[in-house]
Amino acid sequence: MPTWLVTGGAGFIGGNFVLEAVRQGVRVVNLDALTYAGNLHTLASLEGNPDHVFVHGDIGDRALVASLLAEHRPDAVLNFAAESHVDRSIDGPAAFVQTNVVGTLGLLEAVRDHWKTLDGEARDAFRFLHVSTDEVYGTLGETGKFSETTPYAPNSPYSASKAASDHLVRAFHHTYGLPTLTTNCSNNYGPYHFPEKLIPLVIAKALAGEPLPVYGDGRQVRDWLFVTDHCEAIRMVLAKGRVGETYNVGGDAERENIEVVRTICRLLDERRPREDGQPRSSQIAFVADRPGHDRRYAIDASKLRDELGWRPRHDFDSGIAETVDWYLSHQDWVQRILDGSYRLERIGTAA
Ligand SMILES: NC(=O)c1ccc[n+]([C@@H]2O[C@H](COP(=O)([O-])OP(=O)(O)OC[C@H]3O[C@@H](n4cnc5c(N)ncnc54)[C@H](O)[C@@H]3O)[C@@H](O)[C@H]2O)c1
Repeated sequence: MPTWLVTGGAGFIGGNFVLEAVRQGVRVVNLDALTYAGNLHTLASLEGNPDHVFVHGDIGDRALVASLLAEHRPDAVLNFAAESHVDRSIDGPAAFVQTNVVGTLGLLEAVRDHWKTLDGEARDAFRFLHVSTDEVYGTLGETGKFSETTPYAPNSPYSASKAASDHLVRAFHHTYGLPTLTTNCSNNYGPYHFPEKLIPLVIAKALAGEPLPVYGDGRQVRDWLFVTDHCEAIRMVLAKGRVGETYNVGGDAERENIEVVRTICRLLDERRPREDGQPRSSQIAFVADRPGHDRRYAIDASKLRDELGWRPRHDFDSGIAETVDWYLSHQDWVQRILDGSYRLERIGTAA
């Protein structure tokens, strides 16, 4: 049974990843600092499962990471932990540099020191996989897509901090020989998504009868990928990716934000009509644009497709319908975030 050290596994993508990895027979040591974005309720189904070891701690804590590596001797380390919300990075970039840059550096140093002690098959098979974003490439015009050779041009404090972490991972491969892999993925959506991000925010506000805030003219384009398809891509890159390489992951599902919001409104109207019979699109409210808002992202995922045979299982229509249905049937999960009670669940969980 393989063992993986997963960081940030109480977050949106990390949580989905951990749930599936344990289901597939992997033993997961899950290191998460439980910031506002970490939610143990996502992992409730793993309670008491000996194949999931939760550790409350920081990726930048070298001594802690070193002790986890020595104790659990994982076959791979997968780094999902990050400050991830662009709006928060505009209000306060320092936390993003602390976790995404300084924290990732501490993690890399602890992993390198551990990896150097391995020999034979364990050393050859060991991998460090860094989960990153397409936002490191900046913004696109009407045409074109980001490929792995697109120059980095991050525009927000969030994407700048992720770009810095990608560069550190690259440097640890080239300088120390650490067997790294990096994935740069487009916007994810799906179950367990924290309701400050566009899709779960719109679902929550639409159901509450509140205005649905849309930045600027709503015509910013994102390439949407269902979260479990991203997780599958990461597992494939871990299993078969070429060491030192980066792989772009995208859903080939470009949509304008306003189109995404209207689709959610329509799906909710069909499933749970408003009592007054009005369409939820009447709740849309355009608000001042995000400063420096990137206009368009689109991913060329042909390297991942051609080298590793990955393809997303969901198109946008099936993925967004599944997402709306998930939120409708998991209102307790959302409610605990909205009323703040999810944060109380961390009490007594520190390892
Ligand atoms: N959400 C997206 O659309 C998307 C797209 C591409 C790439 N990514 C990347 O994927 C990763 C996961 O994103 P997400 O949306 O799940 O983020 P998230 O904000 O939902 O979760 C981040 C998790 O990391 C934990 N964390 C934060 N700082 C930490 C620290 N110093 N030490 C340990 N744990 C810490 C948080 O508690 C949380 O559980 C991030 O690296 C992000 O940059 C996200």
